[in-house]
Amino acid sequence: MAGKAWGGRFAGGTDRRVESFTESISFDRRLFEQDIRGSIAHARMLREVGLLTVEECRLIERGLTEIRAEIEAGEFAFVLEREDIHMHIEAALIEKIGDAGRKLHTARSRNDQVVTGLKLWTREAIDRLDARLVELQRAMVASADRHRAVILPGYTHMQRAQPVLATHYFLAYVEKLERDRSRLADCRKRLNVLPLGAAALAGTSLPIDRHAVAEELGFEGVAANSLDVSSDRDFAVESVFVLTMIAEHLAGWAEEWILWSTQEFGFLALPDAICTGSSIMPQKKNPDVLELIRGRSARVVGSLTTFLVLIKGLPMAYNRDLQEDKEPLFDAFDTVEANLQLAAVVVEGANLRADRIAARLDEGYLDATTLMEHLIGLGLPQRTAHEVIGRLVGLCESRGLTRLADLSDADLAAADPRLGPEVRGVLGVENAVKAFRSYGSTAPAEVEDQLERWRGRLQTDAAPGGSKERQR
Ligand code: ARG
Repeated sequence: MAGKAWGGRFAGGTDRRVESFTESISFDRRLFEQDIRGSIAHARMLREVGLLTVEECRLIERGLTEIRAEIEAGEFAFVLEREDIHMHIEAALIEKIGDAGRKLHTARSRNDQVVTGLKLWTREAIDRLDARLVELQRAMVASADRHRAVILPGYTHMQRAQPVLATHYFLAYVEKLERDRSRLADCRKRLNVLPLGAAALAGTSLPIDRHAVAEELGFEGVAANSLDVSSDRDFAVESVFVLTMIAEHLAGWAEEWILWSTQEFGFLALPDAICTGSSIMPQKKNPDVLELIRGRSARVVGSLTTFLVLIKGLPMAYNRDLQEDKEPLFDAFDTVEANLQLAAVVVEGANLRADRIAARLDEGYLDATTLMEHLIGLGLPQRTAHEVIGRLVGLCESRGLTRLADLSDADLAAADPRLGPEVRGVLGVENAVKAFRSYGSTAPAEVEDQLERWRGRLQTDAAPGGSKERQR
């Protein structure tokens, strides 16, 4: 029974196949630092309430600190028999310091220990990710600024719809990323409640002080129901959902830019440094980074699905199924962090091809809606105005004219007498853009305001790595 934490009750050793089937050390070793931090806080609390002597606590802290250094230096031996990182660290501690080490697991179970480590890890991962989101927002804002002179054709259903300022387009992604940040912050709030001290499922008869541990580990509250703690993985599911949203936002953006970088669109110039070539076609330059950002969103959706199926139908308190929480959680964070980092690299390096975009901006009657609104302004009911302009577009198409402005004054007046020569002031894409005025629209003054607002906000916002407050 060497090394087993449950030796007393068992007669023989564990089947090797069972050990290798049930182990989690191959992936949960990633939690070593969080486990040690949790254990030190736990030991200090045990000392304060008199369950450890000052000397025992000192030995434990010293032992754990040494173990942390050994793991960091790659000098720590991991073995299958010790199942997970928690057992490894405790066993190594006992080897080092003897009986004092055998007291560390007082008033604690792996059930609350595992969740504590996982929560600490997730909280840090959330903070890292938030910094990455800010980084990408900054890249988007810089690009919004760099492309202030560019007007884009806006699309719905992938059909040309209305003109939009490129700045407006980039800021749309800044808004999406801001919602992602706010979802993360929200999820972090609910996560930040201490599980430790719930023990196996019912709490403990020993006089522990959970509030002191919460304080030490930077948790804002203490979980009020031990049964709930033992079964709760809401924080993991929720954070993976937020990650899924981020991955989906990036996938949509990547898809768009893959299209924009085609010969057919020709909207986007990607620098060589972020593209790859073909082993057979010498002329090729492929947007692989964007494709992988799009493709890897699949892994994140997969992780979310894994979680939802994993917790479905689990009865109250700890079930071993929950060991399956770590890999999808780690993978989702790793994937989205890399996606965000590379997205920022692409946004920083890519430029809109203003000349190519401008050359075809006249196509698609992007000013039709503005012309219709001009008529509405003159008192025509919207439905009627819509019909009048629809007929004018039809007339253009029948004559092979690409622009409404190509129609003569007589054509316009024939469609509706209110369409006098002054409508030339709203025709054409540039005029159409200038005509916008509603809050949140692509009106130049509105967009300038929004750009200013974002510049200010991202300056004062947490620098990558997060503020002191957020890092706790
Ligand atoms: N290795 C397991 C995990 O990571 C710990 C199991 C804890 N509890 C138990 N009763 N076996 O979830």
